[in-house]
Amino acid sequence: MAQTILLTGGAGYIGSHTYVALKRAGYDVVILDNFSNARKDVPERLELITGDPVKWHRCNILDADAVAQVFASHAISAVVHFAAKKAVGESVRLPLDYIEANCSGLVVLLKAMQAAGVWRLVFSSSATVYAETEALPIAEDAPLSFTSPYAYTKLMGEQILAQVAASDPRWTFGVLRYFNPAGAHASGLIGEDPRDIPNNLMPYIAKVAVGDLPALTIFGNDYPTPDGTGVRDYVHVEDLARGHVLSLNALFAEGIGHTVNLGTGVGYSVLDMLNAYSRACGRDLPRAFGPRRSGDLAAYYGDPRLAESRLGFRVELGLDDMCASSWKWISRRRNMAEE
Ligand code: WQD
Repeated sequence: MAQTILLTGGAGYIGSHTYVALKRAGYDVVILDNFSNARKDVPERLELITGDPVKWHRCNILDADAVAQVFASHAISAVVHFAAKKAVGESVRLPLDYIEANCSGLVVLLKAMQAAGVWRLVFSSSATVYAETEALPIAEDAPLSFTSPYAYTKLMGEQILAQVAASDPRWTFGVLRYFNPAGAHASGLIGEDPRDIPNNLMPYIAKVAVGDLPALTIFGNDYPTPDGTGVRDYVHVEDLARGHVLSLNALFAEGIGHTVNLGTGVGYSVLDMLNAYSRACGRDLPRAFGPRRSGDLAAYYGDPRLAESRLGFRVELGLDDMCASSWKWISRRRNMAEE
C-alpha cells in the first residue's frame, strides 16, 4: 500500500514538480493549496503528466479547521511543506503577511500533524538563511542570519522545527536549503509562471525571450567575478524535486532528521545564464547594463557534499537543460488557455 503524502503548496512552481517526482517514486499524493500563486489548471496538467487523477484541496494553510479536515480525509504518513510566500522584495513591504503565512502557517500545520499522529515533514527552506559570506562554497554549518523578512521567516521556520523536534522524539524533519531553482518540467506542461514582472533572473529572461519584456537589465557588471556580473548556484527544478523525494525516503528509512543544501556547488554568472538562454531560444537576447541591485551579493553558491553523503543527492541537469526546459515551457504556456 503506497504511503500518502500531503503536499502543501503543491500547485506552485517547486511543489508541482515535486508532485510529479513523488508520484514517479510510488507515493500517493494529496495537494493542499490556496492557489494564490498558482494557476487553477495545474491539477489537470499534473494529471496529463502522471496519467493519474489528482487529489487536491483548495485550502488556506492558516485555516486550522480546513487543514484538520484534510488530515481527517486521507491516511497521511508525511508532509512536504511548500505553502508559503517567497518574494524577497514583497516581504520587505509586507513583513506581517510573510510572518503570518510562513511562520503561523507552519504552526497550524504542525498542530494538525500532531493531532493526526503524523510526525514526518520535509521543510522548504532557503540559502537566504546563510549570513553574507565570501567563504564559498557555503556549507550547512556556515553562520546563519537574515537580510529580509522572507529570510527571517525561513530561519524562524527552521528554529521552530528544532524546538518541536527537541520536545518529542517522534518528530523527524528534513530541512532543505535551496539555492536558485530554475528551469521547468521536460514535458513543457508545468514551470515557473509568475503573474507579474518577475524578480528572479530566469523567469525575467524567459519573458524577454518570448517578447513580453524588451531586454534584460543586468544589475551590475563591476562585481569581483570572472565577467563582473553576479554569480549564483542555479539548480534545475527537476533535480530539486528529486531531492525532496530522497529527503522523504530518508525520513521513512532512518527516522532521523537532516538539514542539507540543495544546490550544485557550481556558480554561473548572469551573462552565463543569458548566453545559455540565447542558445536555447535561438537568438541573441537583448540586454543592458544597469546599477547593482541593493542587497545583492557578488557570488553565492552552495557546498553539495552533505546532501550527497546524507541523501545520495547529485544533480543530473545543467544550465543548458534549465534554459531549454524553460524555453519549451514558456513557448508552450503562451498557447495554453489563459485563465
Ligand atoms: C540572480 C542574479 C541578480 C534579475 C533569490 C531570492 C529568492 C530565493 C532565490 C528562495 C543576481 C541578477 C536578476 C534581473 C539581474 N528563493 N539579476 N537582472 O538574487 O540569488 O535571490 O534567490 O529562497 O527568490 O533570494 O536570485 O534570480 O533575483 O538574481 O541582473 O532582472 O541575477 O543581480 O546576481 P537571488 P535572482
